[in-house]
Amino acid sequence: MSKMTIGIDQLGFYTPNYYVDLVDLAQARGVDPDKFTIGIGQDKQAVPPSSQDVVTMGASAANEFLTPDMKQDIGLIVLGTETGIDASKAGSLYIQQLLNLNPWSRAIEIKEACYGATAGLMLAKDYIATHPGKTALVIASDIARYGLETGGEVTQGAGAIAMLVTENPRIMALGDVSSYYSEQVMDFWRPVYTDEAIALGKYSTEQYIRFFELTWADYQKQTGKQLADFAAMTFHLPYTKMGLKALRTALPEADAVKQADLLAKYEESIQYSRQVGNIYTGSLYLGLLSLLEKNTNLQAGDEIGLFSYGSGAVGEFFTATLVDGFRSQLHAEQHQATLDARTQLSVPDYELVFKDKVPYAADNYQADPARFAGDFVLSGVTDQQRQYQVNE
Ligand code: HMG
Repeated sequence: MSKMTIGIDQLGFYTPNYYVDLVDLAQARGVDPDKFTIGIGQDKQAVPPSSQDVVTMGASAANEFLTPDMKQDIGLIVLGTETGIDASKAGSLYIQQLLNLNPWSRAIEIKEACYGATAGLMLAKDYIATHPGKTALVIASDIARYGLETGGEVTQGAGAIAMLVTENPRIMALGDVSSYYSEQVMDFWRPVYTDEAIALGKYSTEQYIRFFELTWADYQKQTGKQLADFAAMTFHLPYTKMGLKALRTALPEADAVKQADLLAKYEESIQYSRQVGNIYTGSLYLGLLSLLEKNTNLQAGDEIGLFSYGSGAVGEFFTATLVDGFRSQLHAEQHQATLDARTQLSVPDYELVFKDKVPYAADNYQADPARFAGDFVLSGVTDQQRQYQVNE
């Protein structure tokens, strides 16, 4: 009997309908635009109106692929997020309602900075192994927000990735071996009284690289695998220069031809993030999606390395192998068309949208209907209850 594989069967993506161009932002902040586009490696930044939150974005990402049949088999709904909308209740319950998902399921939310969705993916893998025939919906959804005129402003962004995790997946099978490492580190955090994250910028980049080096070395020790065994390496992308810094630490292990190949694949993996920004726990998977949709020469059987990093901090290096027919499950043209169809905001308009936020207080609130977009919207807050609706 052939061994059951478990992995990613479907990948959906959503990002808000607005963006600010980072050349405009650099000029407004008195910074050389090359710092943002080359030094940081970002071109555009998604700007979420207050009618989009982790629930609406996550539901839209999953709505991209879910069919009524798929919904029946889902027994686990995981929302990975660090910008959840309730300190107690799981956002996945609102998503379950918006998408009419199977109520006979476990619906939870996982938090560990940008690592949450990877924890969800690993939980889903274990769940499916012990519940044959069942599937899991893992959603990564976040709004990266540091504040206007802060050092982190250029690394903001918003969006969601949804993954259907199944037996015999049609995109990629997850490897059995992974390496994970955690340690209490104060590189980035967000106290519950604020919606803006605190980052010790340079220190956080050092921790990211340290966690990559630790888990990559440990993975190699466990498996005896070499860098040359991988068709591509993908990374959590808080900004696109960050993954490159980590990749560069491993590159000397391969010959010049392989190095050039991995760098070319890295370029393909950052195309979407360059246009969206950091989507925190979905960023690794946005990089994976970009690689799969922009690349034309990856083949079934190719193994891809994935490095997940969540500040605070947890790192995990794991792998996945492409399966026959994976390309037919992707939506490359549709995703690029969605990105291209977004509305550009001037910097003053971006600042207005940024400031028009759901209050951190018990006040009623109405979101601006002129900025409604996507499949689902938060219309407002009434009596301390968030009001979600299908966007007609
Ligand atoms: P900064 O101080 O504004 O930037 O902070 P810098 O001075 O370090 O410059 C950045 C790069 O631009 C440098 O290149 C400069 O040389 C270059 P590098 O040395 O890094 O290769 N540069 C230029 N290049 C071309 N032309 C120019 C020019 N000028 C400078 N004219 C920082 C940047 C990313 C630290 C800041 O934006 C920040 O704090 N961001 C938030 C934290 C962050 O993203 N950390 C990443 C690692 S932690 C992580 O990934 C987890 C996270 O996603 C959260 C979670 O887990 O939930 C953040």
